[in-house]
Parts: sequence; structure tokens; C-alpha cells
Amino acid sequence: MDASHRLSVAPMMDWTDRHCRFFHRLLAPHALLYTEMLTTGALLHGDLHRLLDFDPSEHPVALQLGGSEPQDLARAARIGVDWGYDEINLNCGCPSERVQKGAFGACLMREPALVADCLKAMQDAVSVPVTVKHRIGVDDQNDYSFVRDFVGQLYSVGCRVFIVHARGAILKGLSPKENREIPPLKWSVIRQLKHDFPDAVLVANGGLDSQPKALSLLEPDSDGPAVDGVMLGRAAYHDPWLLRQLDAWLFPAGPRSGARPERREDCLEALEAYLGRQVSPLRSAKSMTRHWHGLLHGQPGARAWRRAMCQGQSPLSAVRQDPRAAA
Ligand SMILES: Cc1cc2nc3c(=O)[nH]c(=O)nc-3n(C[C@H](O)[C@H](O)[C@H](O)COP(=O)(O)O)c2cc1C
Repeated sequence: MDASHRLSVAPMMDWTDRHCRFFHRLLAPHALLYTEMLTTGALLHGDLHRLLDFDPSEHPVALQLGGSEPQDLARAARIGVDWGYDEINLNCGCPSERVQKGAFGACLMREPALVADCLKAMQDAVSVPVTVKHRIGVDDQNDYSFVRDFVGQLYSVGCRVFIVHARGAILKGLSPKENREIPPLKWSVIRQLKHDFPDAVLVANGGLDSQPKALSLLEPDSDGPAVDGVMLGRAAYHDPWLLRQLDAWLFPAGPRSGARPERREDCLEALEAYLGRQVSPLRSAKSMTRHWHGLLHGQPGARAWRRAMCQGQSPLSAVRQDPRAAA
């Protein structure tokens, strides 16, 4: 089985920037990491170094694009692959008003023929996998046949990786945050898709906030076959040690290079060295350390450690504030 999508960290705007991804990579050497969504407009007209630079250790890393114009998406995908990204993903799941105004994100699920054109144009432009991330429905279009036909149309143009957030999107009346909480989770839909598209890679996303929940989806049950991979979003950010635990469980032979940290504190020296390389007059330490606050989640001394980093201390000196956190 192709293990490349077995464990991944979700694209999250304002969260999964390069400094967050560097940290997640330390914890989970096998996880596939996704960027925040970048719109085609930003990529075609913006500062590419600022938008796209990443640390080599982040590989494998996937670039998520937002857009709905096939040629723009093809050009943006080309730029991403030239920059070294290992996969290009199209966002068909974001319900925000801003994204709806741009006519992309979740509202694209209503236009599978257009999404198929977008994917074809992107596939023609690059040789890395072009994948899609979507919901299980939009507003009242929430029958299984709706998402099955969406996936079917993309499958017919060669798309083979589907990352499915197991909730419908409500486009009017719910904020993006509410859209991640209120529509009910239906993981069984993803198992059903795997049953109907056995050759496709089906990755489950949404509400996977513990090891048992994530691992149970990787086993068949009465609802259908096992899915191929699990993608963690908020849990990976707030409790990143969970990523380390899943990586260790799913890849027991250990990383090909480097080492998986045995203790949370084993990450601190690497983070400290990274800070030393990255801090500059244009980039504050806090803009990076803010993503690392979850490392001591649930540990004694975690609050003092976070507070010290908020006050501008480095991870190692902050942990020395409270001997319990360094234990
Ligand atoms: C702060 C935040 C930003 C997000 N930004 C994106 C994004 O840029 N692209 C995307 O496809 N999904 C985005 N999402 C949705 C996540 O990728 C994921 O689908 C969702 O949080 C459900 O997974 P979870 O329950 O594991 O968090 C975002 C979620 C959060 C919390």
C-alpha cells in the first residue's frame, strides 16, 4: 500500500506556515505536511520567497491552492513545483465568505465539471500528484450520491487522492469556525467512498483528536473498508505530541534519517537552533514560537513555559523557568 498519505497535517490558514511545519516535521518524520491555502492571485502576483520558501527538512510538503480558473491554477501549480513542493492540492472545502466571493473553496463542489477542468489543467502542467480536499456535501446537497458523483467526475480525469473533511459545508449563516464544529461528522461516508473507489486514496479528516479515533479509521468496520490515511488539523496544532505518537505507531521501523524524539524536550534544541537561523529584523521570534506552544500540552509547567515564550524567551531558556517542564 502507498503510505505517502497515511498520516498528514491539514492545511490551516495562519497556522501551518513554514515555522509550524518545521516543528511538526521534528515530531512526525513521516507525516505529509500541507501549507496554508494560497490563492492563485497571491501566487501569480505576490512575493514568491515570502509565500513559498520552506526548510528542506519539511519534505514531503504539499502546496494547497485556492482558485477556480484552470489556466491560473496550472500556472500556480507550475510555480509551486518549480519551488520544490511534492504535491499540489486544490481547496474545495473552505466555506468562508471571502472564498465564496472568489467562487472557489467549498462552493466548487457544485461545479464538478469546472473542478475536473481545473485538475486536468494542473495535471498537464506538473508531474507531481494533484489532489483535492473537499467536504461531504454543501448546504442541502448532502446525499451520498452528491459527493460520490463529485469524486467520480474527478476520478474520471485521473485524480486519485481525495482528502475528505467528513462534514457538509453550510455556505450561508455559519462562520468558518462554526462550519468546523456544527455540521455533524460522518466518517462512514469516507468508508463508503473507499468502497466505491477502491483504487483511489481516501484520506479522512475532521474531528480526529485522539490516537484511538485516528487508528480506528485505518481498520475496516461494519460501515465499510479502512480509509488509506488520516489528516489531523486542530489536534495537531494544539496537542502536537499526538502527531509524534501516531507517527511512532504507524511507522514502527522509525525514520530513514534523523530520529523521532523520545521526549518532548528532545525537540527544544532543534527549535532553538532553527530560531537562531531564522530570526531577522523582519521576522520576530514570537512569530515562530507561537506555533510551538502546544508542545508541552497537558504537562506540568506548560503554562509558565508558554508565558515565557510569549514574553520573547527562546524555547530552551523558557523551559528553564520551571524545572518541572524540563523533567
Ligand atoms: C485555523 C484554521 C485554518 C484553516 N485553513 C484551511 C485552509 O487554508 N485550507 C483548508 O483546506 N482547510 C483549512 N482549514 C480546515 C482544516 O484543514 C480541517 O479540514 C478542519 O479543521 C477539520 O479538521 P480537524 O477537525 O482535524 O481540525 C482550517 C482550519 C483551521 C482550524
